[in-house]
Amino acid sequence: MELEKNEKKRTRVLFLCTGNSCRSQMAEAFARRLKADTIEPYSAGVEIRPLDQNAVKVMAEVGIDISHQQSKHLDSLKHISFDYVITLCDHAAKNCPIFPAKTTTIHVPFDDPPRLARDAESEHEVLDCYRKVRDAIKSFIEGLPDSLTANEQSDAEDAQSPGPSKDRQTREYVRDAYSKIAQTGGSCCPASSCCGSSAPSQLAKGIGYSDDDLSILPDGVNMGLSCGNPTALALLKPGQIVLDLGSGAGLDVFIAARKVGPEGRVIGVDMTADMLNKARRSVSAFTEKTGLNNVEFRLGEIEHLPVADNSIDVVISNCVINLSPDKPQVWNEIACVLKPGGKACISDLALKKPLPEKVLKSAAALVGCIAGAVLIDETVKMAGQAGLVDIQIDEKAYGIDVMADCNDPLYSQIKDALPPDAKLSDYIISVNVTAFRIKK
Ligand SMILES: C[S@@+](CC[C@H](N)C(=O)[O-])C[C@H]1O[C@@H](n2cnc3c(N)ncnc32)[C@H](O)[C@@H]1O
Repeated sequence: MELEKNEKKRTRVLFLCTGNSCRSQMAEAFARRLKADTIEPYSAGVEIRPLDQNAVKVMAEVGIDISHQQSKHLDSLKHISFDYVITLCDHAAKNCPIFPAKTTTIHVPFDDPPRLARDAESEHEVLDCYRKVRDAIKSFIEGLPDSLTANEQSDAEDAQSPGPSKDRQTREYVRDAYSKIAQTGGSCCPASSCCGSSAPSQLAKGIGYSDDDLSILPDGVNMGLSCGNPTALALLKPGQIVLDLGSGAGLDVFIAARKVGPEGRVIGVDMTADMLNKARRSVSAFTEKTGLNNVEFRLGEIEHLPVADNSIDVVISNCVINLSPDKPQVWNEIACVLKPGGKACISDLALKKPLPEKVLKSAAALVGCIAGAVLIDETVKMAGQAGLVDIQIDEKAYGIDVMADCNDPLYSQIKDALPPDAKLSDYIISVNVTAFRIKK
């Protein structure tokens, strides 16, 4: 559908953002002011939040009063038939419902002003962040309707370009693979039956889990997919709120839940529905064993975390970030969701030196976290660029050799692709990464 400048009927455009508290309110107000002849603008959120008073201030600076506007939930506008829905943030894009076919949905992301302003040291600096986003939104609205058609085009181009479509393929491949693993068991045993049923617990002990940790786990939760023990690294304390990225069947979520106790809470996020279902099915067994009811599993991608900013004391993750096609974005998300002073304790695989081309091309290696692994320096750089501090990397002697010894077909394939006489551990190590969000 094209927007016709001279159309009598104005084009109905809905600007959608997470809380309809800032960006979408600015967009609606600019469209009302600048495009009243052609556009009938609306705004809404996928949740309701108070109007952001800094947005009110910077809009007042350009002569637009939005103080009377209120956050509206998308559901309250269900009766309106929109021509365009424009999502202004990734969270809204992900949670945007399906609209009728005649509605064109477009994603035009703008920076989140409160996030931009997180490290600002004065009100002036805070407002500058809001002004930057306000001006970007104003330019976008000024460019309507042409910018809409331009964006549709660039979305179509994106779908063709190697970057985003490759990312999508990677994610789909990883999701499919872990779906199958969730349906059949763990990485080590079902396909090869090489290790016997005790293999996941042997692997877990080999990478540092104690018998005590493992004793509280419901059956099937430890799938032998880990490469470290982030809950030990995190030195969790009672009452903390913990987020586990790529929680799988819930191994670290359940272990962390006992450490943070009834006053604390642990949230697991995973993008594979089969894994999530497996984890959720174990919750009642965990509660029966421990008396605790403090875990939750959410479907989501670690590049777009479904949790509030500044809400988490400790982020943990076990052998997952290397599977992400957009690792810098994962580190940005970690920095956003952590409370000031909060910490990230990540166990993952890292490269000592670049992998041979043959291994990089192996899809099986990707699912074993290996083709996606990055050099240690790159991890430090990504965490630093996200604004985290005191970044420490601790190389573990265990991990890859324990996993390789398991004779899993995945690792056999990788070993076969290495040069003769080379061992996996010549290339790959298991690392623990600790990093902190700066205290305010
Ligand atoms: C190697 S398994 C690790 C599972 C768990 N951490 C453990 O130690 O048992 C990787 C998990 O991360 C999930 N995953 C991979 N990429 C993800 C992404 N981009 N967003 C969310 N989950 C992801 C997979 O679905 C899978 O459950």
